[in-house]
Amino acid sequence: MQHPYKERSREELMCALAEARAEFETKKALGLKLNMSRGIPERRQLDLSMEMLSCLESPEDYIEAGVDTRNYGGVDGLASAKKLFAELLDVSPEQVIVGGNSSLNLMYDTVQRGMQFGFGGCLPWGKQSRVAFLCPVPGYDRHFTICEKLGIEMRPIPMTPTGPDMDEVRRQVKDPAVKGIWCVPKYSNPEGVVYSDETVRAFATLQPAAADFRIFWDNAYCVHGLYDEDDTLLNLQKEAEKAGNPNIAFTFASTSKITFPGAGVACMAGGREDIAYIVSLMQAQTIGPDKINQLRHVRYFKNADGIRAHMKKHAEIVRPKFEAVLERLERELGGLGIAAWTKPRGGYFISLDVLPGTARRTIALAAEAGVVLTPAGSTWPYKKDPNDSNIRIAPTFPTQEEIEKAAETLCACVKLAALEKLTEN
Ligand SMILES: Cc1ncc(COP(=O)(O)O)c(C=O)c1O
Repeated sequence: MQHPYKERSREELMCALAEARAEFETKKALGLKLNMSRGIPERRQLDLSMEMLSCLESPEDYIEAGVDTRNYGGVDGLASAKKLFAELLDVSPEQVIVGGNSSLNLMYDTVQRGMQFGFGGCLPWGKQSRVAFLCPVPGYDRHFTICEKLGIEMRPIPMTPTGPDMDEVRRQVKDPAVKGIWCVPKYSNPEGVVYSDETVRAFATLQPAAADFRIFWDNAYCVHGLYDEDDTLLNLQKEAEKAGNPNIAFTFASTSKITFPGAGVACMAGGREDIAYIVSLMQAQTIGPDKINQLRHVRYFKNADGIRAHMKKHAEIVRPKFEAVLERLERELGGLGIAAWTKPRGGYFISLDVLPGTARRTIALAAEAGVVLTPAGSTWPYKKDPNDSNIRIAPTFPTQEEIEKAAETLCACVKLAALEKLTEN
């Protein structure tokens, strides 16, 4: 364990600063060109699903229960795809819409529908005087971008190791202007937190002042565990039904990080009334999604267990990368008192908190050394991290060898930025 910087004398710190500068120059000289900015699968992960592309061959293969998937129709998705995703999300098929390749697209459309058409028979959000969403922080930048684009106020909610601070959520939803909350309940982006049963029940029994309040339950990482023993997440839709709150939540998921991010299948689930209402609105928007791709996924995986078995192959590739980053964070930064990080058991990210006031500088230094990280502030609404301390690490895209070098470079940058700050005056 290293000696904390804060317990060192100024002379010792100046000495450490000189060493950190030299170490940074050594890393820079490696001439790296690596990207750890977004949660993107690497090539080997994409190769895992190639067989899916050849499971439909003859014309007959494209016909499923009398439906020719090559033709128009089926706004809410192919029946067998609805069944597959209903099984995965543990809801009934009539609660599910299966769409195109992007769940983010489904989320955007759902928020947009709230703004333009409203939910639960209420006035559209866009016609109400104030509309706000609660945003657990740190969180997923693209959720925040949807709100920003649609003119929805964002209110940060602190995250805890068991999910969002539910006392604060309960306090906030007393305000009828609060219409939604973004949640990534399993292996959250970026911390990797799995919401506890207590948190899920607190959401299911929430009594918001606004009848048109909805929980946006983005279960993007529902089957993305890295270890044999999976983490369980209580089923919000079922708990909400039990609590007499059947339309309080929309759940989203996709196969972006199961098969192909550019050619997967996305789905959403919700209360029966809400889903029927959304399907009625969709009739004006499309004659139907890409059912061929939906059928490919159904034929290839067969059922939810097929998906879970496939995810074990992803875990074999992703787990060593997470472990390599965590090992280096511990080795290089452990005990220095300048950084804290999460140890996710799944998902696509590690959340790193550096010395307040140094995230921006750390990220700039890393860029100078050829390692691109998610821009500073991205994990906060309006890209404003009030402490300038949170950094999202996305270990999946670089190769194993690259990620090891990238993590070492990042650690060198964290140290240098901290020492610059501590020796400032
Ligand atoms: C929490 C979360 N939701 C959604 C997405 C994107 O989903 P999709 O590819 O289905 O649009 C991501 C991608 O990183 C994500 O981290």
